[in-house]
Amino acid sequence: MIRIDSVTKRYPDGTVAVDRLSLEIPDRSITVLVGPSGCGKTTTLRMINRMVEPTEGTILLDGEDVQHQPVTTLRRNMGYVIQNAGLFQHRTIADNIATVPRMLGWGKQRARERAAELMERVGLDASLARRYPYQLSGGQQQRVGVARALAADPPVLLMDEPFSAVDPVVRKGLQDELLRLQDELGKTIVFVTHDIDEAIRLGTMVAVLREGGRLAQYAPPAELLSNPADAFVEDFLGADRGIRRLSFYTSDALELTTDAVVPADAPAERLAAVEAPYLLVTDVDGRPRGWRERGSDGDRLLSYGRPFRPGVDSLRAALDCAVLSPTGWAVAVDADGKVTGVVSQQTIGEAIRAAHTHAEPDAGEDPARGEDEKVAG
Ligand SMILES: Nc1ncnc2c1ncn2[C@@H]1O[C@H](COP(=O)(O)OP(=O)(O)O)[C@@H](O)[C@H]1O
Ligand SMILES: [Mg+2]
Repeated sequence: MIRIDSVTKRYPDGTVAVDRLSLEIPDRSITVLVGPSGCGKTTTLRMINRMVEPTEGTILLDGEDVQHQPVTTLRRNMGYVIQNAGLFQHRTIADNIATVPRMLGWGKQRARERAAELMERVGLDASLARRYPYQLSGGQQQRVGVARALAADPPVLLMDEPFSAVDPVVRKGLQDELLRLQDELGKTIVFVTHDIDEAIRLGTMVAVLREGGRLAQYAPPAELLSNPADAFVEDFLGADRGIRRLSFYTSDALELTTDAVVPADAPAERLAAVEAPYLLVTDVDGRPRGWRERGSDGDRLLSYGRPFRPGVDSLRAALDCAVLSPTGWAVAVDADGKVTGVVSQQTIGEAIRAAHTHAEPDAGEDPARGEDEKVAG
């Protein structure tokens, strides 16, 4: 565990970049430092690997003051990833990734094998190994940066706005990749961003910093969304807090009904037995085809929209399906895309109220996944 204990950093010109910051950073999880520009995120990160020395306070790594550890040992145990990846432009991708292993005295062959293994890990095609950084897209370069930081298998990864320079679509891909990697590798990651959505998406714990390097709140993302500590945090979180928080609740408990689900070739008596105003028509395999208005001839079906997977998708995803559905009912499907039932906006609304009153957000053992797949695991 990394423990930041009442740390202050005052630069020689008098700027207080970090002001009496205390944080416990748990092992094998992603802790995000988030806040507006200039609030001391980079300074905090760099004090962990001693690129910057604190003016006051201590930083402990597994109970030991980092001040007492040789910088080389410390940094070997801490991969460091920055914006724009910071690659060596005159070295190939493979050589970039092999930098630290080579420094540690690994043989050429072993370092090369390690680079190849890591390229695969971070989703880079082996054919890119001999290219130079300028021949790669921004997203690919960022992956190289992550691979390079992982090369010597350090237990800690420090990441400073690693995805800030790429477009939103690429960024989401890199975030997904980081979560997947983290599932496999279980590093202790300290991740800096100014983007609160990124923080909420990636963080197991999120530290919100404010100008002057002061801690505004330190909490799991679901708690930030439900209980911002003050007006600054609330403002920083932005709009739709309530909706976004639903990402942390499972759709598992939604009560589905199958009364209104009918196969396309169902006999007339079966159709007549449906009391709901709309029927969900399925194909021979049980997959959704569309909604049919009760009493209509069934030639024209309304779109069933985007279905959700109970237990895999969050309540937010289920609500979104219902809101987008022309009938106000969401369609639930299993892994094969077969309909398992339908659920109304009203039922989802009741589940949301129940979740808020009875349960803590489902941030359980495997929190924070996609925008509306937070509970997917
Ligand atoms: N080397 C430095 N000398 C003086 N002031 C600095 C130095 N580095 C950063 N600062 C100042 O410290 C504050 C925090 O900077 P920084 O840690 O880079 O914030 P962030 O990463 O959150 O944008 C800012 O006011 C910045 O201008
Ligand atoms: Mg910074």
